[in-house]
Amino acid sequence: MYVRNGSNPSHADSPHWFFGDGMVHGIRLERGRATAYRNRYVRTTMFDTGAGFGQGPPGGASNQSNVSCIWHGGRLLSSGEVGLPYELDPADLSTRGPFDFAGKLATAFTAHPKIDPATGHMHFFGYGFTPPFLTYHIADEHGSLIHSEVVDTPRSTMIHDFAITATDAVFWDLPVTFDLDAAIAYIADPSSGAFPYSWNPDAGSRVGVMPLTGGAASIRWFELEPCYVFHGVNAFRRGDEVVADVCRLSSMFAPGELFGGTPTHRRWTLNTATGAVSDDVLADHDPGDLPSRDPRRLGREHRYGYLVSSRDNPNTVDLGGLIKHDYTNTTREVWDPGPSRHSGEWLFVPTASDLADDAGYLLTYVHDESSGVSELVIIDATAVARGPVASIALPQRVPYGFHAAWVPA
Ligand SMILES: [Fe+2]
Repeated sequence: MYVRNGSNPSHADSPHWFFGDGMVHGIRLERGRATAYRNRYVRTTMFDTGAGFGQGPPGGASNQSNVSCIWHGGRLLSSGEVGLPYELDPADLSTRGPFDFAGKLATAFTAHPKIDPATGHMHFFGYGFTPPFLTYHIADEHGSLIHSEVVDTPRSTMIHDFAITATDAVFWDLPVTFDLDAAIAYIADPSSGAFPYSWNPDAGSRVGVMPLTGGAASIRWFELEPCYVFHGVNAFRRGDEVVADVCRLSSMFAPGELFGGTPTHRRWTLNTATGAVSDDVLADHDPGDLPSRDPRRLGREHRYGYLVSSRDNPNTVDLGGLIKHDYTNTTREVWDPGPSRHSGEWLFVPTASDLADDAGYLLTYVHDESSGVSELVIIDATAVARGPVASIALPQRVPYGFHAAWVPA
């Protein structure tokens, strides 16, 4: 089953794409056919009470769970990056309730945990508005929380994603900082446009590398030019160097900005022996984000990454088609669905028997603004420019959303 989460306001218009209630859309695929489609709100305490951002009842369960889906340890989780994840029933996408790892998780749960393909361990973090600002966690392959430790950072920054290698955890601590006044203004009047995090370049930009198995005391920080990164494509270790490929914005939530500043695709190379750092532009003015990769190569050197392109549009985030980026020579293969159609994150589902670098399929929902039809589109990752090998028209519109997971049979 392909299942994707997104933000979909249930009770009132949401003032921001990030602040609707989580809704998951799942499609079951069996022997070459789509056999079921189902969408469900994540029944959070905020959904049940009709609360908006910052107005829900206290506690970790008070979040909208609207960003991502994760399949790990036989559980399907949804995450909104603030607060606890929610466990969903993979049979019908109904909500089982907030999931706190048997009472062990006392922080938020990122929307972007990383599952090590060798161990099956899930590495993740939570960031907070108040101390501890950043906490690192590991769950074993069965989903039991086996490690938690605080990573010391001086302030609350919005940390959306991170990366792992086979031996390292890589955090980006970038200058989008919690702004209490803006948060209070937002809660008082959600239509004010105030956002609880704001661009604060004086806070500095840095990337930290620490042991994957834990050991925040030995974290090594590398300074960068001010920037913001929502998403990394992947990272890997090469001798003394940790390499991380990221979708970089020159700023984020700066005054007057619709979204972020100039986007570029970057390769950060962090030398953990010498402290040297290089920040190389792989693609200039690159409006590609929501990256994905073959999950079997997570934390290992990757040849390819997959991005959603976006089109120049001063009025909105205008997502387009698919970019396949080849890191060996920085060439690209693209598929564009046409001007009225918009895709989302392309989830890579590997072919079971073939270990080649791009052996798999890329799945996303595509919506056509002119016809009103939404489809699940499937592209062979070895032949991106050829376009879909299959598309499944859906009985209703699927709103634009964020991140998906693949739930195997
Ligand atoms: Fe994300």
